[in-house]
Amino acid sequence: MIASHSDALVLFGVTGDLAHKMIFPALYAMAKRGDLKVPVIGVAFPKWSLDRLHKRVTDSIKRSGGIDNQRALHLLLSRLRYVSGDYTDPCTFSAIKEALGSARRPAHYLAIPPSLFETVIKGLGAANLAEHARVIVEKPFGRDLASARQLNQVAHTVFPEDSIFRIDHYLGKEAIMNLLYFRFANSFLEPIWNRNYVASVQITLSEDFGVGKRGAFYESAGCLRDVIQNHLFQIVALLAMEPPATRDFGAVHSEKAKVFQAMRPLQTDDLVRGQYDGYRKEADVAKNSDVETFCALRLFIDSWRWEGVPWYLRSGKYLADTASEVLVELKPPPQRLFADSASTTGRTNYLRFRLSPGGAIALAARVKRAGKEFIGEQRELYLFEERAGEETPYQRLLCAAMTGDGALFTREDAVEAAWAVVDPVLETHHRALPYKRRSWGPKAADAIIASDGVWHNPGPEEAS
Ligand code: BG6
Repeated sequence: MIASHSDALVLFGVTGDLAHKMIFPALYAMAKRGDLKVPVIGVAFPKWSLDRLHKRVTDSIKRSGGIDNQRALHLLLSRLRYVSGDYTDPCTFSAIKEALGSARRPAHYLAIPPSLFETVIKGLGAANLAEHARVIVEKPFGRDLASARQLNQVAHTVFPEDSIFRIDHYLGKEAIMNLLYFRFANSFLEPIWNRNYVASVQITLSEDFGVGKRGAFYESAGCLRDVIQNHLFQIVALLAMEPPATRDFGAVHSEKAKVFQAMRPLQTDDLVRGQYDGYRKEADVAKNSDVETFCALRLFIDSWRWEGVPWYLRSGKYLADTASEVLVELKPPPQRLFADSASTTGRTNYLRFRLSPGGAIALAARVKRAGKEFIGEQRELYLFEERAGEETPYQRLLCAAMTGDGALFTREDAVEAAWAVVDPVLETHHRALPYKRRSWGPKAADAIIASDGVWHNPGPEEAS
């Protein structure tokens, strides 16, 4: 059955940061491509005029790359309506109903603080605004296993699972979608993609900036909740999952959920938490905060394919660079026929997935140097380079949700299984260790990986 297109977008939190940074630019891009055909009803507490909202949207487009298509901007502005109100007040929902006019299949986008998700979902249900509707929910979906379960329960009292679109914007990134494609569109990978050939996997998501104005949010989240339990775990799932049995996206969701279910729950010594110097002086941050702005951890997936293979995950703010990369290191050849076949730098055979900035896949191997001696050098075979100009993740995800395509969203069972892995260490953990800004985090993170070598620090990408 082909799902019908949503006939309106209701944007809760329209005056907020997320709308300004991500959603307006995505709507503008949709308008440019002729994909914005429905009214957009912005909802928020402040008593703004429509004119003020127009100015906010225009400012957002200017800042996110400039206005290069006046017609698209006008189209977007002409589609906008505004409802001001308190989410706990039933009158707000009546006003939304009125603003929806003849629309019968709205998509409700909750770009609001997670603490308000339940209130709004219940409000939509009570006002009969959920029938034939979809709900798009921003991360974080819950802050631990119990709250995620509770949120799922509430959401299900109002919306069926296939009308709930949980956003993890990493799933809308080109280089991450390519992980799924690359793994299952090729046959050469499968024989080596297991515990017999893979020594370890590392994933780093590093950022060279701090929490900025998001101190209050960060204090309630920390690095583990903010990016590891979702973005990095999604990458692990795409790399570790079994081939889906069928082509429908439900099968992909099921295989990903199995990966989370097979992950060994984390223990205190599996992770090192860090906090950058000066974090406690950031706005809205507690003077004695122990919230981690860095996290490095070792993870195991207890499955037939991955038993015993360590997965090392690391992320942090104010690190030396802004880049994300995966390194799948293969085991060395069984015998050392050449004196230099294990390179002095340690890594010889690996696959490197550059996720951002840019996107690339590189296969590393040793090749012989010209001459009579068997001496080699390390080379990377470059497989892919991301082209500029593609859709942004938010544009892609918004379009997909409005057409009812759930492939790039997360499913209830997977979200809960992922929380179950981190749940034991959310509150019980070692203290966050200080680290210098623009470093690679606290020294203690090296110990996590020591039995398998050292961390791979992603640097500027150079095609070789
Ligand atoms: C968000 C986190 O989900 O992802 C941020 O809340 C983080 O803290 C961001 O900076 C990273 O996303 P991207 O697309 O910039 O890599």
